[in-house]
Amino acid sequence: MRTTKKTAKRVIARIPASTTNLGPGFDVLGLALRLYSTVTLEVTETSGNEVVVTGVDADKIPSTTEHVAFQAAELVLKRDGGKVPPGLKLSIDNGIPAIRGLGGSGTAILGGLMTANELCDSPLSKEELLNLAAKLEGHPDNVAASYLGGLVVCAQEKGHVHTVQLRCPDELSVVLAIPNFTLSTQQARSVLPQQVELADAIYNTSRSSLLVAAIATGKLSLIAVAMKDRLHQPYRAALIPGFDDVGEAAVNAGAFSVALSGAGPTLAAYCYRHLAKQIAEAMQAAFHVHQIQSETRMLEPDIRGAQIVSSE
Ligand code: HSE
Repeated sequence: MRTTKKTAKRVIARIPASTTNLGPGFDVLGLALRLYSTVTLEVTETSGNEVVVTGVDADKIPSTTEHVAFQAAELVLKRDGGKVPPGLKLSIDNGIPAIRGLGGSGTAILGGLMTANELCDSPLSKEELLNLAAKLEGHPDNVAASYLGGLVVCAQEKGHVHTVQLRCPDELSVVLAIPNFTLSTQQARSVLPQQVELADAIYNTSRSSLLVAAIATGKLSLIAVAMKDRLHQPYRAALIPGFDDVGEAAVNAGAFSVALSGAGPTLAAYCYRHLAKQIAEAMQAAFHVHQIQSETRMLEPDIRGAQIVSSE
C-alpha cells in the first residue's frame, strides 16, 4: 500500500489556459496561453474534504467534491490501493474565463492530477498523467497544450497521447474576444455532423498540415489560408451571434486570421503583437453591433506548460 509523501502536505500547481483547434485542427491542435489558474491541494488536520473556488467566474464553477479537479486528485491518490488522507482541501484560484472555450476544465483536471501526484511522491510519469488527463477530458488537445506549453500537435492511439510541441514565432500574438455568455463543449459538439464529405476532410487535412508547417517555419502569412475549417466552425457559427462579422473586423484590422477558440464562444485572432490593440477594439465593437458584450485579452503563447510551483 502506498502512503502519501511525508514532507509534502501542500502542493501548488499553475496551469496555463489553452486555445484549441486553431481552425482546421479539430481535437488535434492546441496552443497554451499566458493566462493561468492555480490549483492548491493540501492535507488538512481535520477530517472531511473541501473545495474552494475563487477568482474569475467563481460563481460558475461548483465548489463541491464533484468538481473535476477534486475527482482527478482522488483518482491519483486512490490508485494502486493508495491511502487517501482523511482531510483534503483543494483550492482553485481561477484566472480563466469559464465555459468560453479556453480550456478551463482541462486546467482543473491537470491541477488535480498534478498536485495529487506530487503529494504521493509522483507515481505517475508525465506520459501517464497526460494520458489520464485526456481520458478524463474526453479529447486530448486542451490538456496536451496546457500540460506541455507552446503549440502542441496531438494524436490519440489506444489511449496514448502522442505529441509534438512547437515553439511559436516570437512575433505571434493572440487576441481573444470573449463574449459574456457561456457555451458548453457538450452543446457545441452536439451540433456537429457525425459524417463528413471526403472533400471537407481533405480541405481540413491540407489546412491543418499547412498551418503546422507555416508556424514551424515562421511563414506567418500562410496562416490566412491555413486557418480555414470546414469540419466544425461552419456548424458552430450559428451558436455565436456576430461570428462572421467579428472575424472580418479582426482581419480588416490586421489579423492574419481568426478561429473559434476550442468549442467557443471565444474568438481568437492571430496577429503581429503591435497590431493586437487595434484588433481587440475592432472585435469588441463588432460583437457590440450584435448586442453581445465582450472582454478582450491580448496574450502571448505560454511556452513552459503546467508547473508545480510549490511543494512543502
Ligand atoms: N477540440 C474540442 C472541441 C475543444 O472543439 O470540441 C473543446 O474544449
